Amino acid sequence: MPITIQKLTDTIGAEIGGVDLTRPVDDETVNVLKSALDDYSVLVFRDQAFDNDSQIAFSQRFGALENMLYKKEGDGGTPISNITNVDMDTNEIFPPGHHRLTGNSGNEMWHTDSSFKPVPAYCSMLSGREVPPEGADTQFATCRAAYESLPESEQRQLDGLVAEHNYAYSRSKVKGYSPPAEAIAQVPPVQHAVVRTNPGNGRKNYYTGAHASHIIGWPLEKGRHLLEELVVRATRPEFVYAHQWQPLDFVIWDNRCVLHRATAFDSAKYRRVMRRTTVAGIGPTVSETGEALAVA
Ligand code: OGA
Ligand code: MN
Repeated sequence: MPITIQKLTDTIGAEIGGVDLTRPVDDETVNVLKSALDDYSVLVFRDQAFDNDSQIAFSQRFGALENMLYKKEGDGGTPISNITNVDMDTNEIFPPGHHRLTGNSGNEMWHTDSSFKPVPAYCSMLSGREVPPEGADTQFATCRAAYESLPESEQRQLDGLVAEHNYAYSRSKVKGYSPPAEAIAQVPPVQHAVVRTNPGNGRKNYYTGAHASHIIGWPLEKGRHLLEELVVRATRPEFVYAHQWQPLDFVIWDNRCVLHRATAFDSAKYRRVMRRTTVAGIGPTVSETGEALAVA
């Protein structure tokens, strides 16, 4: 069956048909999918009946996988990240106020995965194993179309800027949550280029999100304001695709140019069991001397 590609919006997202990713896929298919990810930034697949092993096997076709920062209770272990309101040990929904639910709520800030690492993520892959019948959409915003919509003078002002990304900073914004010290210790603040260029198609975008704290060399508040303004622009309706989950949906997004966030659902009533794999990026976005790299 030929692979089909259907655009989801004018600026971001495509639904891909005609492939079963739970079985071994050939190199040609992987190349088609990687190039579609370069072009559309978010790929949606239906009816992909993954278990953890088949999800890991497929994900590795895109590159080396990141490991989770720390092992949450009941997790199946690295490199699978459990995004869920269900306790894997007891199979029961976490009680209201449980720290895992508070931790999950951090995903409701617009962010890009692993921007707090020296080599930030390439793409994330999320498998909907059990999804609520209402709520819990995942929203995606394109920082490429948003960048391209800036007047050229404002694009130029972003060129060469470097931002600090800091996991401790983003977690400090999550009410009532303190992350494990072992996680914080693993990820000291890092620096990333504010403007990134896709090495496949040469298109540029800006790089910001919840972990982005400030601009190097600027007064803290001024840089923070700029990084937040860029989020506001990217999350205008014309730059957003909201994914309404069906069971067995599988979504891949390009963390280099896309922001995403979780949205609320009735987590006392409905089970939500999602499994994420994260493909590592190929290099840092700044040089050893701290200059933004032209392509990263
Ligand atoms: C993630 C994430 C959003 C969601 O898995 O990285 O942010 O809707 N998930 O679960
Ligand atoms: Mn995320």
